Amino acid sequence: MNELNGQQKIAKSPWKRRFIILFILTVVLPMLAVVWLVQRFGGDVPVDYASPTEHFKYGSTGGEHEMGFPYWIWRVLPDVCPQYLPGKGYQSLGMVFEKNADGSDRDLPVGTSQRRYQGIDRVFVNCAVCHTSTVRTAADQPPTIVLGMPAATFNMKGFEEFFFHCAADPKFSKEFILPEIERQGGQLDLLDRYVVYPVAIAIMRDRVLALAGRFDWVSRQHAWGPGRVDTFNSAKVIFNFPMAHLDPDEFDAPADFPSLWRQRQRKEPQEMQLHWDGNNTTVEERNKSAAFGTGTTPPTIDLERISRVEDWILEVTPPSFSQFFPVDAELAQRGAPIYKAYCANCHGASGSDFSGELVGKVTPLAEIGTDRRRLDSYTYTLAVNQATLYAGYPWRFTHFRKTHGYANMPLDGVWLRAPYLHNGSVPSLRELLEPAAARPASFYRGNDVYDPLKVGFVSDQAQGNGPPFFLFDTTAPGNGNGGHTGKAYGTELSADEKTALVEFMKTF
Ligand code: HEC
Ligand code: HEC
Repeated sequence: MNELNGQQKIAKSPWKRRFIILFILTVVLPMLAVVWLVQRFGGDVPVDYASPTEHFKYGSTGGEHEMGFPYWIWRVLPDVCPQYLPGKGYQSLGMVFEKNADGSDRDLPVGTSQRRYQGIDRVFVNCAVCHTSTVRTAADQPPTIVLGMPAATFNMKGFEEFFFHCAADPKFSKEFILPEIERQGGQLDLLDRYVVYPVAIAIMRDRVLALAGRFDWVSRQHAWGPGRVDTFNSAKVIFNFPMAHLDPDEFDAPADFPSLWRQRQRKEPQEMQLHWDGNNTTVEERNKSAAFGTGTTPPTIDLERISRVEDWILEVTPPSFSQFFPVDAELAQRGAPIYKAYCANCHGASGSDFSGELVGKVTPLAEIGTDRRRLDSYTYTLAVNQATLYAGYPWRFTHFRKTHGYANMPLDGVWLRAPYLHNGSVPSLRELLEPAAARPASFYRGNDVYDPLKVGFVSDQAQGNGPPFFLFDTTAPGNGNGGHTGKAYGTELSADEKTALVEFMKTF
């Protein structure tokens, strides 16, 4: 009793009360604030998808950490800076939007992912932005989305330049962006509106402008057009190569986006030398190296989620030509022995059987004779620098090599890989079988309407009803359409034999 009284007395004493108030002010409140801040600005939660195909289209590879655009900035920029786009929205850069149930476009295109990080929803690109596209059987038919095919309509240079130009525009400021977010129905809460987004806009502007400085060589390159990127000059930026002082012959080296199907057969029973110039023999390193293209770096890469993509591309197969157009089985039969005699040794027995003595090996440039810039853009110095990537990690890069030619690759789903060759300089399979002088000197890229006779996308039309097409000039540096010619490459076959050979390759 006495004791209790004693305690009550102390509690009632002004010192005890002051102590409690002080304790609340200096310990409890700050702790609550920290807890609140942690739950508001901590956390790192990507939007995940159970199905591997949805994950490929919209799943994260980790790039949003460093590079992510705040969701609402991404959404409204096409309307803040429409003058830097070739048409309306990201659609005009050839990005593919799926439809919602009500027929409207989804909010984000295929090839972008979303993650909540540091208290803000962020968007960035993933593998599908360069490795997925659409095909139509005729201009009035709906597009079919094909996962793993080259992103033949995606204008990567236009995409980069859109952000660089917009960030440099006075409209890239909270005064213009915030009202546009409101107009488009983005209901930002007070904190987002007055603190988070204004800060994010300022940070993003600085970051994009800094990046624009490092990528200013891109704007001095000839346009790549849709479906291509200058792979390894972009990689040099990661190492802070002095881009202005490099040998000019290393530049203008655009590479066509390749397909990603059947990766297991590219590593088993034997590891093939791949990338266009065969500079790397391991699928896993090619994947991680590709992940740089999705904005990830060693500390930010999301290995768990990339490995879901890796597992999926090991097995995924291309859709067959016959799902879209008829194949003349008898004619194809006649083409089979021609293919076997001329092509199988370098390109594999068929679209699913990759056996062949030289498959996955490099044919020297002097022999293949195709445009040399992509090969020259990949320098020995770059190979050495790549070997420092992921240094200290168990998956440090060790397989990059300087080669001296282009790789003999399997031809699975070849019908969807047009235009052909590493620089996409020949519009159709039929035209690849012509001597260089008889191949089109210029043609249009970016159409997703298919030409089942020539086997390639329609390339003689200047415009369609989608994103603008690109006039490909084979005389521009990096665009040469020569090489892969002569008796061994089938260009001296008779017209009938060529037709039969092409029919056979429709079964790949
Ligand atoms: C910015 C566009 C872009 C993005 C994004 C991209 N890639 Fe690629 N990918 C390319 C290009 C271009 C090549 C061909 C490179 C070369 O040889 O010049 C390529 C090549 C590859 C290859 C080798 C293909 C072969 O047969 O030679 C693999 C495998 C690959 N990418 C996987 C991925 C994965 C996995 C991701 C996501 C983590 C990814 N890519 C993201 C553009 C991209
Ligand atoms: C000596 C090996 C060799 C032979 C023989 C050969 N090719 Fe090729 N082929 C290559 C190389 C190397 C490339 C890549 C060249 C480049 O892109 O610069 C290539 C590229 C291709 C491509 C482009 C693939 C793409 O995704 O763009 C096709 C299609 C092709 N060859 C078909 C054929 C056909 C059909 C034959 C037989 C008539 C044939 N090749 C014979 C080595 C060969």
